[in-house]
Amino acid sequence: MGFDFTSIIDRHGHDSLAVDGLGDATGFAPAKPQEGFDSLPMWVADMGFATAPSVVRAMRERLDHPVFGYYTPSNRYYEAIIGWHRERKGVTDLLPEHIGYQNGVLGGVVSALNVLCSKGENVLVHSPTYVGFTHAVGNNGYHLVHSPLVLDERGVWRMDFEDMEARIREHHIHAAIFCSPHNPCGRAWERWEIERAMDVFERNDVYVVADEIWSDLLLDDHIHIPTQSVSPWAHDHVISLYAPSKTFNLAGLVGSYHVVYDPWLRDRISRESGLSHYNAQNVLSMHALLGAYSAEGAAWADELCTVLSKNARYAFEHVRARYSGVQMTRAEATYVLLLDCEQWCREHGVSNDELVRRGWDVGVTWHDGRLFACPWCVRLNVALPHAQVAEAFDRLDRYVFV
Ligand SMILES: Cc1ncc(COP(=O)(O)O)c(C=O)c1O
Repeated sequence: MGFDFTSIIDRHGHDSLAVDGLGDATGFAPAKPQEGFDSLPMWVADMGFATAPSVVRAMRERLDHPVFGYYTPSNRYYEAIIGWHRERKGVTDLLPEHIGYQNGVLGGVVSALNVLCSKGENVLVHSPTYVGFTHAVGNNGYHLVHSPLVLDERGVWRMDFEDMEARIREHHIHAAIFCSPHNPCGRAWERWEIERAMDVFERNDVYVVADEIWSDLLLDDHIHIPTQSVSPWAHDHVISLYAPSKTFNLAGLVGSYHVVYDPWLRDRISRESGLSHYNAQNVLSMHALLGAYSAEGAAWADELCTVLSKNARYAFEHVRARYSGVQMTRAEATYVLLLDCEQWCREHGVSNDELVRRGWDVGVTWHDGRLFACPWCVRLNVALPHAQVAEAFDRLDRYVFV
């Protein structure tokens, strides 16, 4: 079946931060473009594509029954998640009791840390770091310790296991956030890498919050290895968080969930998440998940990955061929790409601020890498119809990397 990944949808006035949130006072959002340029939404991690038709259909069918009283998630909800993890991630031991609703993956990260840490404690995370972790962890009274990822001789971002262990010991760390696949570095970690990371954590009594929100968005022939699957220790000491929101462009509906096998951890996290009384799923969000985690949703997600792979490849090849001094690795997952422009900026006498501003001025609303603990970098979302991605690179050719 051919789904539509080419139509350019006008999102203005339709509840879209990516297009209507430009130029806010906090400096978090990109500035509005200069006269004569429209903005290409490439900062917020959502997509320019309509969600899967099966998602809309499922919500519409629910809307046809016009009573929206209190409810509890149905058996179908748990079965859909279990089926999705079995078919797409190879997980065969997932039961309904292992699954718990979380009001956003970041909400789940915070609840997990509230269980694992005392206020003021240190939490290990790799850098570059997703800005949401930085805010969520800091706002809740914990302190992030970065272990930098390093590029190997083939230009692949790798964990530095010695560095992780040294920082864990030095800072008395007992909780880590593990982003898999990694935003913003685009790694779909290989099994041996996850195993070695878990060995480090196991040796040092570090519980792990695995953010696997990107685990369906795999590029080319890359696969996702669920963190909990790599060892018996990981199975029982990792709190994993998932959502259909990245995969199906449903962030505005909110609807994430944890997978926690160990009953002690699970009870504690469920209790902690429930204390606010905010942690209840919207019924439409549940029906959206049912439409998403279906056979048709799976076909849509497969086609989406093909489209994203093409856009990511195009960007990589374009940067390599034309922007000498800009370093970029080949993304294996996600749809956000990290361009390290330090060498280019130094060679051209362009400051970090000026570089970021040049893109924004011409409507390439990339995200400033400094938000991701990655100075001189920009993060570019390529989950747009290909014509818009090509347009963005045309503007970069003509106005930015000149
Ligand atoms: C790694 C990662 N985790 C969590 C989120 C946000 O998830 P949620 O909106 O469910 O809190 C994002 C959004 O970009 C993300 O990239």
